[in-house]
Amino acid sequence: MARIVISGSGVYTPPLCISNKELVDSFNTYVHNFNAEHDADIAAGVCEPLQQSSVEFIEKASGIKSRYVIDRDGILDPERMCPSLPERGRDQSSIQCDMSVAAARQAMEQASKNAADIDAVIVSCSNMERPYPAIAVEVQEALGIEGFAFDMNIACSSATFAIQTAVDSIFRGNARAILVINPEICSAHLNFRDRDSHFIFGDVCTAVLLEREDCCSAANVFEVVGTKLSTTYSTNIYNGFGFLNRTMREKPEAAKLFRQEGRKVFKEVVPMATEFIRSHLAEHGIAPDDLRRVWLHQANLNMNQLICRKLLGREISEDLTPTILDTYANTASAGSIICYHKYHEDLKDQDLGIICSFGAGYSVGNVIVRRITVEKK
Ligand code: COA
Repeated sequence: MARIVISGSGVYTPPLCISNKELVDSFNTYVHNFNAEHDADIAAGVCEPLQQSSVEFIEKASGIKSRYVIDRDGILDPERMCPSLPERGRDQSSIQCDMSVAAARQAMEQASKNAADIDAVIVSCSNMERPYPAIAVEVQEALGIEGFAFDMNIACSSATFAIQTAVDSIFRGNARAILVINPEICSAHLNFRDRDSHFIFGDVCTAVLLEREDCCSAANVFEVVGTKLSTTYSTNIYNGFGFLNRTMREKPEAAKLFRQEGRKVFKEVVPMATEFIRSHLAEHGIAPDDLRRVWLHQANLNMNQLICRKLLGREISEDLTPTILDTYANTASAGSIICYHKYHEDLKDQDLGIICSFGAGYSVGNVIVRRITVEKK
């Protein structure tokens, strides 16, 4: 049976960016206005004053310095604090389709593949712009790919779960090559009025192309050595937005948005991800020290450093586990793939690496890869 490889990757980065200072200035203007408006109630003790946010806290607690977004003005307007996007009709392409096509084309170019070589598209991310028709089918059409396409969602682990799904499909002979695409518009589910989380997310789209080694046209690719997934139910990272909201007899909150118990998540997920990586490597006879690179989920810098220190029992370097969350923030499922895309070229033949995602669900997903050189026929 032919090996299955990642032969291409791509990242679409929105052209707009927001620094921590810009975000905090807007948030603090909102806080100032709210407190002034509720002055009398605050003085009477019937309303809690809102607390200001700070750049120092954000950078120390998370490592995030800025984020890319698909709209700046709506987010930074203290009267709105939400992206402002024009509605797109049925005759227009969806935003997630446009992002997906841009990232997918890069992955296809890197892999020297055209639409006729690909049999399936999986769009996998935390939030879909609409329930149906599937965004993946729209992307398939836009790229001119025949075969099948579907959407899936397992929040921050959507990319790794989709990679395993694609690998299984190729392994079973149901497709020669599959595009896995992660268009994350996290700014649209983020509550920019919530001090605990207003700084967390950014927008981006990633893509990887998986295929059978014997179909592969690129020389330097990554063999998928093994994949492993795990889930455990938790509501510590939660988004209650859904199609039943409008049916609820009690008036639902105006908007159901992301919320999390950040500290609990940190404490519970660090050991979970560390042990998951360790045990998966052991199943393949790989010691943590054999890893040339660890492309981790990008939610929190301190979290990633702790996972790697626990895994390796020593101080770790940026070279071993690169960071992209400083400029991209948390981009849900796309984070570890951005990291892979930007930091894989320097690996040598036979070097080993692991892509690991973790987050809502809870979910953890691993993809162990080895750099290989494909013989040209
Ligand atoms: N500015 C200033 N202070 C803030 C603040 C802000 N924006 N947000 C919270 N604070 C305050 C809190 O009120 C608290 O004050 P207190 O000590 O007086 O009660 C203090 O800072 C610490 O808050 P806490 O929420 O405990 O911070 P933290 O160190 O846990 O960092 C996260 C918060 C969210 C950055 C961190 O918990 C995290 O990243 N967790 C992992 C999340 C994760 O991986 N999620 C996956 C999602 S996909």
